[in-house]
Amino acid sequence: MAISDIKQSIKEHYGKIAATSGSCCGPNCGCSSESDKDVLSVMMSDEYTNVDEQIVAAADLGLGCGTPTAFADLKPGMTVLDLGSGAGIDVFIAAKAVAPTGKAIGIDMTDEMLKRARANKIKLGISNAEFWKGEIENMPVESGTIDRIISNCVINLTPDKRKVLSEMYRVLKPGGKFTVSDIVSIGDIPNDIRRNAELWAGCIAGALDKEEFLRITRDAGFNNLMISAEKPYHLEGNTSFGLASITLTATK
Ligand SMILES: C[S@@+](CC[C@H](N)C(=O)[O-])C[C@H]1O[C@@H](n2cnc3c(N)ncnc32)[C@H](O)[C@@H]1O
Repeated sequence: MAISDIKQSIKEHYGKIAATSGSCCGPNCGCSSESDKDVLSVMMSDEYTNVDEQIVAAADLGLGCGTPTAFADLKPGMTVLDLGSGAGIDVFIAAKAVAPTGKAIGIDMTDEMLKRARANKIKLGISNAEFWKGEIENMPVESGTIDRIISNCVINLTPDKRKVLSEMYRVLKPGGKFTVSDIVSIGDIPNDIRRNAELWAGCIAGALDKEEFLRITRDAGFNNLMISAEKPYHLEGNTSFGLASITLTATK
């Protein structure tokens, strides 16, 4: 499957969700689509705790697989970048944490998601949140300008994860950190699953083996890797691999 086909399928999948979905949380409402549900019997969508209910109601579409903002050590004055920001849930939480002098920027490649996030920004009245169009493999962000990167259930969707990590390294300030919640596999995912576009968009086929994910993170130059949360998913039937969500922090 060509990279452009994977990207197109992801844009269509999340464009449709942005245009039609209400806020949704709980089992079977993660980034899996209807057709994934025979593969994943329980998709985790972590509950946001101690977060403004209005933000959750407006911007949580149940697409995340962790709560990276809870582990990102956000402080007033920081500039935060959220990769694949969707309807903006983690951008708004970060924007509040770094106010009044800091700001949070979300990047997303799907027009409908950007439209929804920008509408949410107006509705919630959060002025230090911004949403930029772009691909996280080639970020429209100046080098060395970001204090914290966060991301929630997005890197698994990208065909070139090494490129994403090298971009993350480029845009962070020296000493800056990322905290990413994402899906990884435990063991390699077979090729027939890897080639299924629906399962890519559903956060399954693109998941990298956990050890490989840690290896390419170190290869990109990051240090002090720490997994602060890890949750296995229950997969239906007999599969040769497992899936888990991890929240990983590392330092430039
Ligand atoms: C599973 S959703 C997660 C949204 C959000 N992080 C959340 O937790 O609600 C994935 C999002 O990442 C975006 N996305 C996927 N691949 C991307 C890429 N390569 N560059 C930029 N955005 C991407 C999609 O458009 C979608 O909005």
